[in-house]
Amino acid sequence: MSEEILNTQSLTRRYGAVTAVDQLSISVRKGTVYGLLGPNGSGKTTLLSMVLGVIRPDSGSFTWFGSQPSPDTYKRVGTLLETPNFYPHLSGENNLKISCMIKGASYDRIREVLTLTGLEGRGHHSFRSYSLGMKQRLAIAAALLNEPEVLVLDEPTNGLDPKGIAEVRELIKEIASRGVTVLLASHLLDEVERVCTEVAILKKGSLLYQGNVDGLRSEMVTVKLAAPDMGLLVSLLESYAGYKAHEIRNNVAVASFDPPFDGAALNRHFFENGLSLSHLETERESLEKTFLKLVS
Ligand SMILES: Nc1ncnc2c1ncn2[C@@H]1O[C@H](COP(=O)(O)OP(=O)(O)OP(=O)(O)O)[C@@H](O)[C@H]1O
Ligand SMILES: [Mg+2]
Repeated sequence: MSEEILNTQSLTRRYGAVTAVDQLSISVRKGTVYGLLGPNGSGKTTLLSMVLGVIRPDSGSFTWFGSQPSPDTYKRVGTLLETPNFYPHLSGENNLKISCMIKGASYDRIREVLTLTGLEGRGHHSFRSYSLGMKQRLAIAAALLNEPEVLVLDEPTNGLDPKGIAEVRELIKEIASRGVTVLLASHLLDEVERVCTEVAILKKGSLLYQGNVDGLRSEMVTVKLAAPDMGLLVSLLESYAGYKAHEIRNNVAVASFDPPFDGAALNRHFFENGLSLSHLETERESLEKTFLKLVS
């Protein structure tokens, strides 16, 4: 297993009656492009704001690089949370000089980040003359000035046209190929599939899935089970090979299993342990479909 960059433990943040992030535990490993995928309002920005120290969690904790965060931690993290405020009348290059002063980065970096972001020919043009895509790439350039080990991006392609979107996605892949770990929030399944290697799917602040992106296409099997003795049902369920998780809804256990799932074998497991089920119903769905249902 490679080194852990970010770990959250049951992070929770409420806004009044809304639980924006609900007991969220994720693990981002070095060298991955980690996608936080969720529909609008699912808690992506709230989660990023917490781990970047912008807002406080109500409960739970997190570590960066295996330690409690300190002011020095954030020097190792480049961030792009919202479209930053550059000075419109100044050139891209002069805007980056100001960013260098704020971050304590060397001016030598300016040329490198302009080249990396494909702005080398436009560095002397005023920011206001930039297309939206160029503005966004300049923002990424600024985030890279102090050679961060991690880059955190919140919806970096929002508002861009298809060409701008493609350029920013290519840029993220290029940055990742240089060994920078990327944490990217997006509401676009397609974006996460194209750019990310790992994904956490959020639904109303809770984690629906965490794993590699290829797993998005695998099937998730959900089984609804009921029996007169629900206590025995749950204990037998938890001892079954392939069992992942369950919750009880209206006296029915809704359980998930790793594929391949064999309903007859599960039924036999209960029967052989002295429990007759009153209900057994299987639903199979790809995570991709689960996500599309979430956003529709
Ligand atoms: N400052 C705030 N005050 C009150 N409620 C908030 C605040 N910030 C977020 N919320 C609520 O918390 C929930 C999660 O919001 P958040 O912005 O984290 O979601 P998101 O996944 O980033 O959404 P989007 O895709 O629209 O950016 C939403 O219900 C939102 O209305
Ligand atoms: Mg957001």
